Amino acid sequence: MNETLETILQRRAIKVFEPVEISEEMREQILNAARHAPSSFNMQPYRFYWVGTAEKKTAVAKLCLGQMPAETASALVVAVADIGSFAATSQGQSEWMRTRSEFSEAKIRDYERTARIGRILFMPGLFGMFALVKRALFWLLNLWKVVGMPPLSRQDIFKWATKSTSLACQNLMIAAEALGINTCPMEGFDGRRLSQYLGLSSRYHEIVMVIAIGKRSQAYMEPPQWRRPLEATVTVL
Ligand SMILES: Cc1cc2nc3c(=O)[nH]c(=O)nc-3n(C[C@H](O)[C@H](O)[C@H](O)COP(=O)(O)O)c2cc1C
Repeated sequence: MNETLETILQRRAIKVFEPVEISEEMREQILNAARHAPSSFNMQPYRFYWVGTAEKKTAVAKLCLGQMPAETASALVVAVADIGSFAATSQGQSEWMRTRSEFSEAKIRDYERTARIGRILFMPGLFGMFALVKRALFWLLNLWKVVGMPPLSRQDIFKWATKSTSLACQNLMIAAEALGINTCPMEGFDGRRLSQYLGLSSRYHEIVMVIAIGKRSQAYMEPPQWRRPLEATVTVL
């Protein structure tokens, strides 16, 4: 079978790990794979917190409700949807474009203008007031035109960012698997306390999941993997 498909199919959520060290090189490869995932408007609206020291791992595992994958992992990665990074991201991209001969000045200016409009469209505004204006405008526009609805409220923007963050998480897990280690995604955690521990701001950050990384314990027997049949999850038109 194709090697990539094999890696995807062999990945399991591992619940007990044995202690192994994850080298800096491996950590970098895994995180690098994560950031290569596709993201909406290429905005990469996330930040990963790699928790690798014993003391911090113990603290974070406790906030993951003391779950076994967290307690036994070699590292914990907290994947955070970050909606406060738009300005820095678009500035980073336009600076990068200026270093490349492929992009003309007009193309760069076009990107900067689109990014500015995007930033405005993605603002919920004070008390969500701008979200109401956007809802009304797009509702009217949609009466006579095919339009895509931008995220309106702060909650919508977090939902938007969560999609791209989750794709990066899957890349991260598949990369780990390809490198011979295992993972367990977890959404069982105390979000308020974990956010506080990491110094996150509820205005801009939302924890999407925590990924436990380590080497599957020899003693751990994963249950057989069940999936809904293909026809229950797919509609071919
Ligand atoms: C978003 C998400 C949250 C999850 N949360 C937890 C969790 O808190 N604890 C846990 O042990 N497993 C968690 N899992 C792992 C699932 O239980 C597991 O992926 C599922 O049972 C299928 O098993 P498999 O991944 O081995 O095929 C989570 C998976 C996902 C995708």
